[in-house]
Amino acid sequence: MKRIEAIPLRHARAPEADFLVIGSGVAGLRAAIELSRHGRVLMLTKGHPLESSSSYAQGGVAVALSEEDDVAIHLTDTLKAGHGLCRHEAVQVLVEEGPDRIQELIAWGARFDKIGGKFAFAREAAHSRSRILRARGDATGNEMVRVLMAQARRQKTIQWLPHHFTIELAVVERVCRGALVLDEVTGDRFVLPASAVLLATGGAGQVYARTTNPPSATGDGMAMAFRAGAILEDMEFVQFHPTALYLPSSPPFLLSEAIRGEGGQLRNIKGELFMRRYHPAGALAPRDIVARAIWSEMAATRSRHVYLDVTHLDPAFIKRRFPTIYSTCLRYDIDITEEWIPVSPSAHYMMGGVKTDTTGATSIPGLFAAGEVACSGVHGANRLASNSLLEGLVFGARAGLAATAFARRGAGSSLPLPSVRDLDEGPLGTLEDADKLRSSLRRLMWGKVGLVRTGSSLVSATAQLSRWARAVAQPFGTRRDLEVKNMVQVARCIAEAALWRENSVGAHYRADASELTRSGWSQHSRIEQETLVTGLGRLRTLRAEAGSRKG
Ligand code: FAD
Ligand code: SIN
Repeated sequence: MKRIEAIPLRHARAPEADFLVIGSGVAGLRAAIELSRHGRVLMLTKGHPLESSSSYAQGGVAVALSEEDDVAIHLTDTLKAGHGLCRHEAVQVLVEEGPDRIQELIAWGARFDKIGGKFAFAREAAHSRSRILRARGDATGNEMVRVLMAQARRQKTIQWLPHHFTIELAVVERVCRGALVLDEVTGDRFVLPASAVLLATGGAGQVYARTTNPPSATGDGMAMAFRAGAILEDMEFVQFHPTALYLPSSPPFLLSEAIRGEGGQLRNIKGELFMRRYHPAGALAPRDIVARAIWSEMAATRSRHVYLDVTHLDPAFIKRRFPTIYSTCLRYDIDITEEWIPVSPSAHYMMGGVKTDTTGATSIPGLFAAGEVACSGVHGANRLASNSLLEGLVFGARAGLAATAFARRGAGSSLPLPSVRDLDEGPLGTLEDADKLRSSLRRLMWGKVGLVRTGSSLVSATAQLSRWARAVAQPFGTRRDLEVKNMVQVARCIAEAALWRENSVGAHYRADASELTRSGWSQHSRIEQETLVTGLGRLRTLRAEAGSRKG
């Protein structure tokens, strides 16, 4: 596909707007389209608007549209994957509104792959039906972003501010009134007012040394919401994708689960097929089980990777079905139709995030969140594959509607707008050795708060992270330093929550605790700033609430 050309910066300074949308992935774009029907929208992104996880999504989007499927089955599969920690009502919204959001996307021009004139529904792990729609084989996110971006650009009420990094949310008397923004080109900082702010800043995979996420996934939205006083929920639940390319010279490029859905097999370095020893569904077992099985095989064979094998499949089919994966691997001199592909797990998706209700409302009036930055409760302890693109569409639209209703009530309009000085207390600092801190943090998280954790690894990680948190407490003036600050704060929240949860559930695996050692395992972890800052102790840091055990 042709890349969409860069959107020009139309204003040297803040254009007037009713709504700020921070982030231009699937969730932000869908929210902006909704908001544009009700007022003027300013769409802010750091870097280029196409640089998001959404653009790289491969496998597809899960939706109950096939003849063999219905929303009740999609609901059951999602709840099962979430290990009792999904919010039933949020999952219901996702699966029931999903089909309309996809039909709407198709009406706007999305072209999902078909076979014989009918949509081709693929199978992925832990789905009991074939329900994954895809585009151009393995370029689903790219197609969805293309269509949403084009639709958004048709709306005259949406203005674009690319290369603008949001530093802080402007919260006055517990109401969100706008945001403090850095112009990445000039270094200017200014406050943008709004009647409501919609956070759609995506995930935080970059806090791990190995991640499928793009470099922009530094958890900024979670960190700024946390600093503003919002509640973060279920931060211990980080999904590790089982199969990312493992080559010393390449970033961990994702090898879609759909490859296993089409018959791809996993072999250890001795060439043995091992997945049946771990789960009856073999290579199509739930993602957390496959990732840990790979981890065990790597440990048992003292290897840094296992292999994904598609050499038994028809080469022409592989090239047609996975064109991006085929050509990317070829660039690294691996012809996947002839050779086994070295793979290992990588951090992939944040189930936790800024706590929202089913309308996208956070614990701060005027602040809404949607997509990967949010924790709406649809994923629980483990996300069902391909549910997040759908989540971005469904909850992006819902958050847009709720933000409109909030703005109409005019709840925050009489409150004063804080100045830059109010929001950035103290002189701007520069992080000594920011790159070194970033790299040390990523290695610490990978080693101690990764796929397999223990109480002692988490105690040592939280101690180091609180030392780093003190080192990044002041305001900074560059995107590089601000991202490292955000990464430290988000990493600390993940590690604290992981330490608090003393049982293994879903993607949170504690080698020192079995599934049921702790009664009340269906609780959600919650973390908010005051308790962390004042250091009131771990258990008071985290408040909990029973999760849904339906399904
Ligand atoms: P994103 O798409 O990540 O967008 C975040 C936006 O926020 C970006 O525009 C970014 O620039 C902006 N931003 C961040 N911080 C700031 C800041 N401080 N100031 C201003 N702007 C900021 N899910 C599926 O359902 N199906 C799949 O097949 C699939 N495949 C995947 C493949 C890969 C390689 C990856 C990484 C993820 C995949 N996922 C998939 C997960 C899914 O893509 C993401 O969860 C989803 O796209 C997140 O969308 P989002 O809109 O919430 O955030
Ligand atoms: C993949 O294609 O394996 C990614 C799907 C997802 O993360 O939902």
